[in-house]
Amino acid sequence: MDNILIEGGVPLKGALPISGSKNAVLPLMVAALLSDEALILQGTPRLADTLHLAHVLRELGAEVEAFGEARDEGLRVQVREITSTRAPYELVKKMRASFWVLGPLLARAGQAQVSLPGGCAIGTRPVDLYLQGLRLMGAQLDMENGYVIASAKNGLRGAQIDLPFISVGATHVLMQAASLADGETCITNAAAEPEVIDVGQCLQLMGAQIEGLGTNTIRIKGVSRLRGATYRVARDRIEAGAFALAIAASGGDAQLMGVNADILGSLRPVLETIGVAIEAQENSLRIIGQQDRLTATSISTAPYPGFATDLQAPFMGVMCCAQGESQIRETIFENRFMHVQELVRMGANITLHGDTARVRGVAQLQAAPVMATDLRASIALVIAGLAAQGTTRIGRVYHLDRGYERLEEKLSQCGARIWRERDS
Ligand code: UD1
Repeated sequence: MDNILIEGGVPLKGALPISGSKNAVLPLMVAALLSDEALILQGTPRLADTLHLAHVLRELGAEVEAFGEARDEGLRVQVREITSTRAPYELVKKMRASFWVLGPLLARAGQAQVSLPGGCAIGTRPVDLYLQGLRLMGAQLDMENGYVIASAKNGLRGAQIDLPFISVGATHVLMQAASLADGETCITNAAAEPEVIDVGQCLQLMGAQIEGLGTNTIRIKGVSRLRGATYRVARDRIEAGAFALAIAASGGDAQLMGVNADILGSLRPVLETIGVAIEAQENSLRIIGQQDRLTATSISTAPYPGFATDLQAPFMGVMCCAQGESQIRETIFENRFMHVQELVRMGANITLHGDTARVRGVAQLQAAPVMATDLRASIALVIAGLAAQGTTRIGRVYHLDRGYERLEEKLSQCGARIWRERDS
């Protein structure tokens, strides 16, 4: 397995291009199952997760082709005919979002056999909300040998679906299924995440009738057929946030390219509170760290527009060296503190109290061999490595490859001493 090595202590300077959003492109690719015409997605990131989902979709009958330049790629996904409605365990277990094919398969083919996604390092992550919603839409659902066996012989019908709490994945699946259902569906407590808006807008271009995107109530009037479309994927707000935090932790001064201040959402005031200046420029955002230690502040994760759970770990990476104490509360996933023990190995002073991590800033982190435990935890270790004294070695970097495009290349272009040690 590859390792990433980082020699810390270099302030990031220069330009960091922001790629297309991973969390938008995955459900967008899944949406291609809803039409027999081609869905052309522009500005897609090249990630282990997109390659994996392409594999899953091909199993179901999709043609998936990449096109364009290395820095502005696209994907053309066309499912003329669904040739298989089975998503096997071997594929679904590798990436939870593969489970999302359940909604469109059921809506277009009237049946699906999709493996349950199984365990996950950041929590149990059940799929009960997806299943409850699909049942309300008339689907017959049974569990057999670890698979969800689903059928809707007479098609799905519109329903009132009141989600007990917000789930991004359930909103994607139910919105997609409802687009081809008979009648109107209303989802309350729907996710308002920008990625849901992205998918909803693409579905609208495909002919879907959707209202309320970006709010917690989404109404979908089902149509009998969806057509192809061309859609540009939004930039990745989680990558942008993580890079802004990396610049801050390194005491650098660098630009996030291709984005404006909106992309930072609720991270923006938090950055300003800890002492980072943000300057909007034409088609870029300048992030200015400081020589002195940053000021600690507390956050609590929440569904959008709250502080993103995907930025909790990288934020903790920054707080490790801040002046003062930071309380970091995780309200979305029950076990999303896997990075804590690794950060402690680098000299951080962190204690866990239920859903809250108490971080007392130290003057300097020390390099150490550490292990990436999940996608978002891994970037926290990169951030800590950039700030630490000495050379940090991060193992299990396949987690990083799932969600951050050309990470070492982008950071080294800003002066970071970061490289990959390939396993021979
Ligand atoms: C998506 C994102 C992930 C992000 C998360 C929360 C993608 C590919 N992944 O994950 O990066 O961290 O949103 O913003 O877009 N839950 C249930 N039952 C269900 C569904 C969810 O109990 O049926 C729980 C989960 O265990 C979790 C919470 O709901 O505690 C929120 O999860 P959810 O929003 O569904 O996360 P994902 O869609 O899996």
